[in-house]
Amino acid sequence: MKYQSIIEKMTLEEKAFMMSGKGTWQTVGYEKYGIPSMFLSDGPHGLRRQAGAADHLGLNGSLPATCFPTAATIANSWDEDLGEEIGRCLGEEAVVQDVQVLLGPGLNIKRSPLCGRNFEYFSEDPYLAGKMAAGYVRGIQSQKVAACPKHFAVNSQELRRMASDSVIDERTFREIYTTGFEIAVKEGKAKSIMSSYNQINGVYANENSHLLREILVDEWGFDGFVVSDWGASNDHALGVKNGSQLEMPSTSAAGAKEIIDAVKNGTLEESILNERLDELLQVVFDTHMEKRPEKFDMKKHHEAAKRAAAESIVLLKNADQILPLDGKVSTAVIGDFAETPRYQGAGSSVVNPTKLDTTLQLIGGYNISYAGYAKGYERTGKTNPGLLEEAVNLAKSAQAVLLYIGLDEISESEGMDRIHMKMPKNQTDLLEAVAEVNENIIVIMSAGSAVEMPWIGSVKAVLHGYLGGQAGAGAMLDVITGKVCPSGKLNETYPLRYEDTPAYNYYPGRERSTEYREGLYVGYRYYETAGIPVLFPFGFGLSYTQFAYSDIEAADKAVSFTLANTGSCSGAEIAQLYISADSQKIYRPAKELKGFRKVFLRAGESRRVTIPLDDKAFRYFNTSTNTWEVEAGSYKVLVGASVQDIRLEAQVTAEGTAGEVPDLRTDLTAYFSGTIRNVEDAEYEKLLGHEIPDGSWNSNGILDINDAICQMYDAKSPLARFACRIMTIIKDRSEAKGKPNLNILFIYNMPFRGLAKMTGGAISMEMVEGILEIVNGHFFRGLANLIGAKRRLTKANKELSQKMKDAGKEQEDNKWMTQS
Ligand code: BGC
Repeated sequence: MKYQSIIEKMTLEEKAFMMSGKGTWQTVGYEKYGIPSMFLSDGPHGLRRQAGAADHLGLNGSLPATCFPTAATIANSWDEDLGEEIGRCLGEEAVVQDVQVLLGPGLNIKRSPLCGRNFEYFSEDPYLAGKMAAGYVRGIQSQKVAACPKHFAVNSQELRRMASDSVIDERTFREIYTTGFEIAVKEGKAKSIMSSYNQINGVYANENSHLLREILVDEWGFDGFVVSDWGASNDHALGVKNGSQLEMPSTSAAGAKEIIDAVKNGTLEESILNERLDELLQVVFDTHMEKRPEKFDMKKHHEAAKRAAAESIVLLKNADQILPLDGKVSTAVIGDFAETPRYQGAGSSVVNPTKLDTTLQLIGGYNISYAGYAKGYERTGKTNPGLLEEAVNLAKSAQAVLLYIGLDEISESEGMDRIHMKMPKNQTDLLEAVAEVNENIIVIMSAGSAVEMPWIGSVKAVLHGYLGGQAGAGAMLDVITGKVCPSGKLNETYPLRYEDTPAYNYYPGRERSTEYREGLYVGYRYYETAGIPVLFPFGFGLSYTQFAYSDIEAADKAVSFTLANTGSCSGAEIAQLYISADSQKIYRPAKELKGFRKVFLRAGESRRVTIPLDDKAFRYFNTSTNTWEVEAGSYKVLVGASVQDIRLEAQVTAEGTAGEVPDLRTDLTAYFSGTIRNVEDAEYEKLLGHEIPDGSWNSNGILDINDAICQMYDAKSPLARFACRIMTIIKDRSEAKGKPNLNILFIYNMPFRGLAKMTGGAISMEMVEGILEIVNGHFFRGLANLIGAKRRLTKANKELSQKMKDAGKEQEDNKWMTQS
């Protein structure tokens, strides 16, 4: 142990306190041992450093910071170096704001287009997500700040996110849901990682030794610390035992007592506690700085945010080459987003931007014959006939329309999943009305995830900016006018309809478990294998120029080909490499992304491009040998401009590994054909290798610590049912007003144990048991137990506090006892 000499001097109580936070954002520090306190702060696309009231839902304000485009946006650039540059900027801002751990990037797999946090995640593909995340991690950590990839792992739904059990087979778990993290850890060398709220096959991520020790440490060589998502710790002592170093937010003396008791009763060896502490201390000391710069260059970071947004814009349609826009064409600007941009998502990632550009402010600086502006629609609610009429009149008077539409704020938020993939009706009503009177509609989209576009035939062009951050408006005008040639490509498939998506019948899991029955067939892996037509395929994006691919040469370590810009303007192409394995005995998706390169070429220029075939190119996870294997044989290498637009093809031969290839042909027929929308129980059990766990809620109305608070609708206690009704009314009212109450939503979906984990140590787990007795109809017994448990907590608090003082701990440093 590197810090053995310090750890040896610490008392058990001091060590126990360090395994949980001090307040919402800090770690416990001890001046007498020279251990500084670390500050952890959100979030993935900008700092959310709270100086005042603290919360983990983005409800209270934070210090101004650059709001970069969100992960879903920058993933469309397919540019790891850009990710690294943004990471560097984030790191610089973190240092100035005295933040040692930046809670991001987020790289959960977009299993369904409906996940409320898709805007914070990179892709439906683990390779792309992992490569982008590794770039961010390298950039952030270049500034001596620890990055914290999150949420590890299999956390792809918001509904009941703190208590849902992701039931998943090992192969899918490895190939789809952990590969991105593997890349972020191995290639980015992440110094910390955040365990997710959910269970994985019945075990909470934060206490899952398979995830946190066997995979993360033993296989990937992770040497940083694991922090629980805020409130994701279930059994704190078990978490520490199984590989989690830090429980957040603070559970104060109540949490410390759990660790002390576990050491005393032998369920947690003190030597393991010491090891975890040592691992945590490495990062505490690594990220500590005596002197920090006081400012960062706001202008430079704003420019970086703009460049990132511009590189990530995706041109989805461009009929009659209407774009770039001719400066002589009189153009109306319609849509509220032009005036009040939709540039980031809601929840813990919310950034208080240093500046916010808008289209209306900037349009005068561009070569556009501006014919005026009409708002067109209200942010939420029904179609407004007055606004509609005004917009139609303006559209009549102009030759072209820039129509700013997309998803509104309530459509995408942490804490709630979307319920459909449609655009708000008041906006599509506007689109149809405007399209009646003007045939040159250019849609400018803002949305952090895929939407259906049944209206696409009525418009000439679509430019998708995703959520472009504080400088996104200017980036979009640069692309509209041709100052920048669009080069983004979709990080996710756009299905024709939500009903076509692979997890349609399984997502979201509504009760205890969420079954990942579609297996490996997420996104394009499904559409390509099952032959389902889509609106826009994965990796799709148009340009103002054209590219030609030729002369492929493929060997087992690399593939090269010539890429030429055959059009009339300079631009960048994202060349993608897919592998197609013609395996007989194991099932494989028709195509899988295994490499990509973004190449900038001037008009007429060509270049030889080489994409390495790395250790991920041919591997699959063999559940019989419990290891990664390569099947010997010949593989197709496909190089192209999207998963569907394959331009070059070659064969390579891979040497196999020794493990026997299991023959699954008769057991897993749905998985061999890719028709996984209705997998039968028997086949799913074969895939899982065990029985399907009963994922339904208790039907007897008896709730336990891991049942969600919203389940009180059915509780034995009338008081609990009443409380639940009140909460539901507040929740429904806020949703109807168009501004969901994230606090209520959080509590609603929170399991009862959250009462202990989210109250800064004011409630112990024992008290939660008492509360549950009341909820379960034993009012007096529960109340007596609750009072008894509270007394014991107060006593333990006093004793611990005294022990800490006796150990020489300064009063000043004892703040966590009171802070929440
Ligand atoms: C979110 C995390 C975030 C944390 C702290 C949680 O609710 O899931 O992504 O980092 O809060 O704000």
